[in-house]
Amino acid sequence: MDDGSKTMFESIKMIKKFQEMGYKKLITTPHIMSHRYKNSSQIILDKLEMLQDALYDKQIDIAVEVASEYYLDEHFLYLLNKKEILTFGKNYLLFELSYTRAPNNLEEVVFDILLAGYTPVLAHPERYLHMHKEFCIYESLKEHGVLFQLNINSLAGYYSKNVQTVAKKLIKKGMIDFLGSDVHKMEQIETLKKVLQSNTYYEIFEKNKIINNDLL
Ligand SMILES: [Fe+2]
Repeated sequence: MDDGSKTMFESIKMIKKFQEMGYKKLITTPHIMSHRYKNSSQIILDKLEMLQDALYDKQIDIAVEVASEYYLDEHFLYLLNKKEILTFGKNYLLFELSYTRAPNNLEEVVFDILLAGYTPVLAHPERYLHMHKEFCIYESLKEHGVLFQLNINSLAGYYSKNVQTVAKKLIKKGMIDFLGSDVHKMEQIETLKKVLQSNTYYEIFEKNKIINNDLL
C-alpha cells in the first residue's frame, strides 16, 4: 500500500525475512494522510485480509496486524471526532507530523487524542527537524502522555546525520517506548539487520523501557 511494498510477492518476501530474523508478529501501519494517501480503515483492513490469505496459502505462520499512521491534518481530526481510528495494542494511536513545519495545535490535538480514550504514540520523533533545536518540545510531549516510537534505521544514519544524533539523544535520555522498523522495501531490511547487531541497539534496552513485546 502507499509507499510500502509494491506487490504481494514483495510483501511475502519481506515477511519471510522478518520471520527468519525471529519476529513473531508484525504490525503494519499504512498512512492515512489526506493530501497524499487516501487510505481508509476499510481499505487497509481489506488489504490485510488479502495478505493473510496469501500467507495462509504459502503456509507462513506469523501474526500480522494493522493499524495506521495518521498524519495530523483536518481529516485526522474528523476521524478522531468520529472515533474511526485503527489502533494497535491497548488503544495506541500512531500519529506523525510534517518533518519541516511545526504544527501550531500540537498540544490541543494531544489533549483531544487522550480525551477520546487513545494513547498517542508519536512516530519517528527523531525525524522532525523543527524539534531538533527545541528539545524541550520532546520533554513536554512526554510529560503530556505522548509515547515515542523510534525508527530503528535512524540509528544507521539512514535519513541523515542530524536525525541519527537526535535518535541517540532520545535513547540516552530514556525517552523511547516503541521501536519501529520503517521497512518499506527489501534493502531496508539489510540496514535493519546491521542495527540489530550493533552496540547502540543494546543500549536502547539499557536506558529505555521498550514495550514492543507487550504487543505480542
Ligand atoms: Fe511516517
